[in-house]
Order: sequence, then structure tokens, then C-alpha cells
Amino acid sequence: MCGIIGYLSTEPGVSKKIIHNLKKLEYRGYDSSGICLLKNTKFFLKKSVGEIQNLEQKLKFDDNCTLGIAHTRWATHGKVSLKNTHPHLSQDKSWAVVHNGIIENYLELKSYLESHGITLSSETDTEIIPNLMATYDNADNIEKLKQVTCMLRGSYAICLLHKGEQAIYVARRHSPLYIAQNKTSCMVSSDPVTFGEDFDSYYALPDDCLAKVDLKDILVYDSNLNKINIRPCEIGSFEKSAELGKYNYYAEKEISEIPKVVEEILLNYNTVDHFKKINKEFMKNIKKIKLIGCGTAYHACLMGAKYIQKDAQIEAQAEIASEFRYSNPLIDQETLCIFLSQSGETADTLLSLELAKNMGAKTIAIVNVPYSSIARQADIVLPLCAGMEVAVMSTKAYNAMLTVLKLLSQHFRWLDGKPKNVDFSKLKKVNYFKSIDQIDEISDLVLKHEKIFFIGRAEDYVTALEAGLKLKEITYINCVSIPSGELKHGTLSLVDQKSLVFVIATDPDLVAKNLSSASEIKARGGKIVLVTNLDVKSCEDIDYLYKFDETEQALSSLLSVIPFQVLSYKTCVKLGFSPDKPRNLAKSVTVE
Ligand code: F6R
Repeated sequence: MCGIIGYLSTEPGVSKKIIHNLKKLEYRGYDSSGICLLKNTKFFLKKSVGEIQNLEQKLKFDDNCTLGIAHTRWATHGKVSLKNTHPHLSQDKSWAVVHNGIIENYLELKSYLESHGITLSSETDTEIIPNLMATYDNADNIEKLKQVTCMLRGSYAICLLHKGEQAIYVARRHSPLYIAQNKTSCMVSSDPVTFGEDFDSYYALPDDCLAKVDLKDILVYDSNLNKINIRPCEIGSFEKSAELGKYNYYAEKEISEIPKVVEEILLNYNTVDHFKKINKEFMKNIKKIKLIGCGTAYHACLMGAKYIQKDAQIEAQAEIASEFRYSNPLIDQETLCIFLSQSGETADTLLSLELAKNMGAKTIAIVNVPYSSIARQADIVLPLCAGMEVAVMSTKAYNAMLTVLKLLSQHFRWLDGKPKNVDFSKLKKVNYFKSIDQIDEISDLVLKHEKIFFIGRAEDYVTALEAGLKLKEITYINCVSIPSGELKHGTLSLVDQKSLVFVIATDPDLVAKNLSSASEIKARGGKIVLVTNLDVKSCEDIDYLYKFDETEQALSSLLSVIPFQVLSYKTCVKLGFSPDKPRNLAKSVTVE
């Protein structure tokens, strides 16, 4: 989603630095970009729609500026257009702003500005911010920023320049913003992955705080303008790890990293006692567990709930974060809420965490990005150790989530006095990509059929959901994921000769039931691909048998999803689409 860069340097030519760093935010998704440089008390503005290189083309000159701000926009208020692209200036051209988030009361504030003779030129909620700054005539700019942020409702990370100063003003609420400084420059960014080359450490601006950043100082204030001290965070390997290497796409690279990631998690959790705080005392009185997330992370929640109920026999339910918040949840001190998020910034998940904490629940966050807001706010953090994930389609992070959830469910079991009953060492012998060459043929089958279905029971149903989400999001092919047992309660009426149905079967106790669902489909003319690791004899109802590697039953959900991740990737490339940047989607969804 939207990205922010602000840069102040002792050296002129700052636009190159800014564009270089703005490109590091491309992976988050955007549809237009813009830059504002301060040149002798005048703002110099360039914007473009589409790729950042279009913006770069417009900057083919040596600028002598030392200060600028820039933005990648993912449209929310107002269509994709130059007019709506950030940065935005105040009508009197004294302030420039870039903004991530949504100002919910912008219509109200727009009327207020109009009553003061100010006409906005874009359809965005952002343009009100520099104009509000310009309407205050207090002497101190940080005081103005405080007054303006008090008027804003919603979420924001904002970065402002004033025409008369070599300084960057920033503020945030529910949207991340980071600051870094060295001897010759300082930089503001919405994502610390941008800092790796030039800085050794950075500061995370706390929620509801403001700051003035210049070459001498980083002055941070709380919402009452009390000065506060914040501690720097070291830049670690995570922030530096986003090289594409020999791969064509990040999606391809990240799927191929799954075995390494699983191994890394097992090693890391063996070496560091991440479960130390999840002890008998912590779990005392816990009556139920809620697992909360969005999209792929929600699917991991569904799987985790199944693991926990089965392994530890504690009541566990998965919740979609955007629904959880409006479901009048029945949670209290006897509830443990586990939040799953790759980015650790998903707005609905973050706001659900805040709600759960306010209601007294205990909280655990399972996140990949170590410095993220969700990681900072939960009682306990379990790291995913997956390294940076760039492709919008979450693949290695999903497998990492399942691995950590399986370790956690085993830990709960052990706390309850029962011996652990999963042998993770079996994963060492597994070929995660066995039979993967067949996926090309299966992808051709997908392209020949008009209707695609994914069915399964229990854990395999969750895999069916995730398989469907992967296919939809990067190939734009419409498909249906449904529990096998629900087929004949409605969806079977869709099945005909134009249908291709993936039947996922990894549970020996349920395989007969899955095969009878396959027969129901066959009888209606549908084609069947059976995806299994069991020793199923191919029968006449199965058109295509895909066998992935066998492992312990308890670990098979870690492997069963991989053929579908590869299927979506291959089909997407065949169709000529970008697997890394699907249309309309963003990697980090920082607005509700
Ligand atoms: C799908 C996908 C999304 C994310 C969802 C939550 O491939 O990536 O569905 O899973 O937006 O994101 P995180 O995990 O960052 O909270």
C-alpha cells in the first residue's frame, strides 16, 4: 500500500536518493508516485501515474536540492490520476505533504477549509492537511502540527515540509513511520527495509506522536507536546534481505525458500526458548483461544485452530480480523487471542489486537516483520523467521505460520502434561517439491476449464481455501473453495462438463468420503484432479492423480498447499500477468 520517503542531506542531488529508496517500496503495491523537492523556499513538484520509472524519466536533470519528500500512492479517496497523486501542497504553497492512511472526517474538514476561502484541487482526503497547517498562524510549526493532528480522525502517517525550513515534520496514528539519521543525512520512511544501505539504526515513531527531524536532531513529542525519548532499533538481516538473485520473480523465489524457512524455524525455536513466557502461569484460567488475521493469515488461523483443538484440546476458533471487530466478541482475561500477520501492519488485525487488549485478553502475535506495530504491541511475540517476503501472494509466510502454529499446539499439549506427538525431524527427509513437474500439465487443464473448484475436509478444506485464494489473486480466475461435505447442499448445481475439481485428501480416515465426493462430481461431468500424499489407487473417477511426498499425517498440511502455490504462479506466468504485483492488491494493507 502507500509508501513514504523523506530525505534531508548535506549533499545536493537528493532526488536520486529519494527515487532509489522509493523503488524499495514498490513491492507494497501502488498505482502512482510523486516527489516534492524544496528549492530556495519554493516547492518543485513532479508526479506520474504507473511505474516509478515514469516519475524518474521526469527527473532527468541534476537537482541541487538537499530536501524532499515522495510517495507511492495506492488509491483510496479519488481515482488514480496526477491530480490525486501525492505530494499535495497547501493553496498558499507554504506546506507540502505525503500521507498514508485515511482521514475519516475529511469532508467535514474540507467544508471548514472552504468556509475559509480554500478550494481543494484534488479528490483526496490528504490535501486538507497542508491547508489546515497553512490556516494556523502560531509561530511554532510543531504546535501547528499538534493542533492539526488533533482535528484528524482516522489513521495517518504524515510527512510535511515547510517552505522556509530545512526540516521534516512527521506524525502518525495507526500507520507506521520510521526515522533514521547519520552524520550527513536523515531519512523518514514508512518501511525500515529502505534504511539498510545508509544507516545502522532507526527509530520507530510511537503511535500518536509527532516529530521534527533535521540534520542536528530528531525531536519527538507525544500528543500533548511533551518531549519523549525513544530507543533506536538496530538494522538487522531482515531489513537487508530482499535480493531477487537468480529468480525471475519474488513469488518463485519465495516458494522455493519454503524448505529452508521451515528448517530455520525448527532450528531457531530449538535454540531460543520463544515459548518461555507461555508457561503454566500464563495459560492458567485460559478457557478458549481465538486466532485472528486476514486473507492468507486468516487461513493459517483456521489451520491453527484445528491443530490446537486436536493436539491440546483447548477450544480454539479462527476469526477474520475485519469481522471480529464488529462481532461484539465475548473475550476477557480467560481468553487468549493469537494474532497472525506476515507484515505485522494489517490495519484490521492491529485494531483487533488493541480491542482484545482493552477487553483484558492475553495476546500473542505470530509475525514475520520483527519491527512491526503488531509485534510491538502484543504481550508475547513468536517470530516467523521467514525473511523478507516481497511478492503480494503470501507463500513462505503461510508455511512458516503453519510450522509455528504446529510447534505452539505441541507446546500447549506439553503444558497440559501430555507428551508431544509430532516428530518434526521427519521434515528433514521430505521432498517439498516432489512431482512438481506435473504442475505444468495441470495448469493447462486449469486454463481449459471455465469453472474451477477446490474441495477437501477438515485440514484439507483449509488448504482448499488457500489454494483458491492463491489462484484468484494472481491469475484473476474465478474459483470456488468448499468443504467436500457441503457440495451437495448447493454448489454441486454448478458442476458440469466445464468444471475442473481439485479434491484434496491427506487424512486416511477421510479419504473414502473424499472419493465419494469425487464420484458425485464425475457423475455430473466434472473432471477430477486428486491431490494426495496417501497411497490411493487411481480409480476411474479420478482424471488426474497428483501425489506429493509422504510425511507424518500431522505435518501434511505443510506440504499439501505447495502444489497449489506453484500452480497459481505457473498459471499466472502463462497468462502473462505479474505474479509479484497483482492488480488492485497491496502487500501491506495499512487501511481498514
Ligand atoms: C494473500 C495475502 C493477503 C494477506 C493479508 C494479511 O496472498 O497476502 O491475503 O495474507 O492481507 O496480511 P498480513 O499477513 O501481512 O497481515
